Amino acid sequence: MKTLVTPINRGWMFREDFDEAYLDFSCPAIGFRPVALPHTTKEVPFNYFDEKDYQFISTYRRVLSVTAEQLKNRLFVDFEGVMVACDVYLNGELVASHLGGFTPFSAEITDVAHEGENLLVVRVDSTERPDIPPFGGTVDYICYGGIYREVALREEPRAFISNVFARPNVAEKNLSVTVRVDDATGLGGEERLAFVLCREGVTVARAEGVLTVEDRGEYRLVSEKIENLALWDIDNPALYDLTVELTCGGDISQKTARVGFRDARLTADGFFLNGKRVKLMGLDRHQQFPYVGYAMPARVQARDADIMRNEFGLNCVRTSHYPQSRHFLDRCDEVGLLVLEEIPGWQHIGDENWKKISCDNVREMIERDFNHPSIFLWGVRINESQDDHDFYTETNRIAHEIDDTRPTGGIRAICNSEFLEDVYTMNDFIHDGGKVALRDPKEITGLDEYTPYIVTEYCGHTYPTKRYDNEERLQEHALRHARVQNQAHSEPHSAGAIGWCAFDYNTHRDFGSGDRICYHGVADMFRIAKPAAGVYASQISPDVRPVLVPDSYWAIGEKSGGGMKTVVVYTNCDCVKVFVGDCEVGQWAPDQEHFAGLDHAPVVMDLSELALWGDAWGDARFEGFLNGKKVIEKNFSGNPLPKKLLVEPDDRRLCAGDWDATRVVVRLVDEFENTLPYAFEPAELSVEGEGTIIGPGSVSLLGGCIAFWVKTTGNPGTVRVSATARGITTQAEITVK
Ligand code: GAL
Repeated sequence: MKTLVTPINRGWMFREDFDEAYLDFSCPAIGFRPVALPHTTKEVPFNYFDEKDYQFISTYRRVLSVTAEQLKNRLFVDFEGVMVACDVYLNGELVASHLGGFTPFSAEITDVAHEGENLLVVRVDSTERPDIPPFGGTVDYICYGGIYREVALREEPRAFISNVFARPNVAEKNLSVTVRVDDATGLGGEERLAFVLCREGVTVARAEGVLTVEDRGEYRLVSEKIENLALWDIDNPALYDLTVELTCGGDISQKTARVGFRDARLTADGFFLNGKRVKLMGLDRHQQFPYVGYAMPARVQARDADIMRNEFGLNCVRTSHYPQSRHFLDRCDEVGLLVLEEIPGWQHIGDENWKKISCDNVREMIERDFNHPSIFLWGVRINESQDDHDFYTETNRIAHEIDDTRPTGGIRAICNSEFLEDVYTMNDFIHDGGKVALRDPKEITGLDEYTPYIVTEYCGHTYPTKRYDNEERLQEHALRHARVQNQAHSEPHSAGAIGWCAFDYNTHRDFGSGDRICYHGVADMFRIAKPAAGVYASQISPDVRPVLVPDSYWAIGEKSGGGMKTVVVYTNCDCVKVFVGDCEVGQWAPDQEHFAGLDHAPVVMDLSELALWGDAWGDARFEGFLNGKKVIEKNFSGNPLPKKLLVEPDDRRLCAGDWDATRVVVRLVDEFENTLPYAFEPAELSVEGEGTIIGPGSVSLLGGCIAFWVKTTGNPGTVRVSATARGITTQAEITVK
């Protein structure tokens, strides 16, 4: 036999309580409803909901059919994430328990499964248990509940590969792989271990060896020198496919991983990737989505990496404050988005048992994610916690023991903190719109020498901003991000800065705007950008694409006192011209004086003379030039009226099988397809065919636009999406194959 992994995400029954009786086959399915994974215990409204609503103990049940043939093998049920604690039963017998909602675990059912139908039951405790990180204090995010990541049935030979740790060596141009073998049955004889490394389907390296009895446990294989090694880089993230096989008799245990060759170094003089200095420019990400919280499938998780890398132009993300979806990380590998991944937690440190779970989290996180080339740093401290010598000595020890290739960091909000990690990582919220954008790293660390240093949060709660706030607030929000990034880029001893945060997020009542949302993102919860996203996008090389994001709605009376006053254009162009009608108002170069640190300084225009309160108003055109050539333009209407309702799915093709989803953005736009920023009217959404809407079908446009996610039924076919607002109906079609 050969390792076989079969997703078991469909066919589950769910109930919002638990009773011992549910463990029994004879217990009728009354009160259970069919669900598919990923699943959230309760869908919540967009805002203004009680976070206690989804915090209860629930039951998931599924029939597992097992054949006599399968029973010759070892059988596991692999859970990728269950929030927050669970007990797994097969045929009434407890086969696994797990504490913590962000890391995977497996339940071996080999000895309990029998031929025919077996009953798999998972008792899920989604309450905020103070004994499990991140809980015990208050937490500025929401963890939702349920089996919110995928589950699979895995069949293995008696001896099998339980994990592989690949160490791509750039200097030696080879790959060394440590293989962990589980041989609980104590088979004797010779087992052969081999790996093959491929790039784009072509084998580039191999290694093999004989696994002897003495070697049981961990075994190391090293390849020959690899010719024409392609490096993993942020602009060219070359990936290799690794397949490791353990052969024993006629049985093969197989494990695959994707790896990348890169040399990443954090020094007191900054971050170096493959020998080149790279200024880290990132944002923190919560893995939350409206209504369903964490329970989104692979495509939606992965899409965030695309948005962050390709739309916002970031080179870095911090998975605040927990290990995130493997699909998101896979996509980070593919798009070249560097990752700082950290353990679950938020300011609070619990008792010794709590710390033990936290140490387990370090281990589980690194053992799950070891092979991602995008991960350059492990966060092994509870976000913004106080010093705790023994605890953090231990988290660092564990991290270094498992991974000798990556440094550790630990995210702080305190200065002069005991420095037990390799990199001092600090949430520096000093910027209040005044002159100081960031503090000097030595002022923060209190050390005599500069150390490897990264700013891991800024802005955030210091300036919450809604996507549909007034223009002056949106402008200042963007400027604050620009000033901090400018400072981070200017500071030679900082590796860079990661801001708070990418997307607005639901939170507890103790935080946010009272409606259970922190409006801290450069984009809203629907991933629709605010002007601050333009700060980052404008740093994209013009060779990739020209960017021109004015921080204005172009309206005569939007700002206090009227007139355009200062308009900032976030752009990678070297000159911006403004026209009103056919008349050129002026041209401006990037403001190198105030933003010298940025690769592409914003263009700051004084348009106060342009029009005053009471003057006639007209259309405008902003043109971006590079080396004298016009490369991009943006038009504004002087008479913005609804002309079209745009309905734009992120994907036109989805997959049948396990449920899949895509976002659909609905925008009420004017003649130039600019979103009407103060349209707050009703929109009716409908989906027909092989899909349904996640969330309500009647919504309000928020600042001219809204998005929703369409969820497939699992069947192949067509999904017809339609939206109506202001009497305009627009349709779009998605194929499910
Ligand atoms: C930080 C914290 C984040 C978030 C942020 C808001 O202190 O680490 O999780 O709450 O503040 O600005």
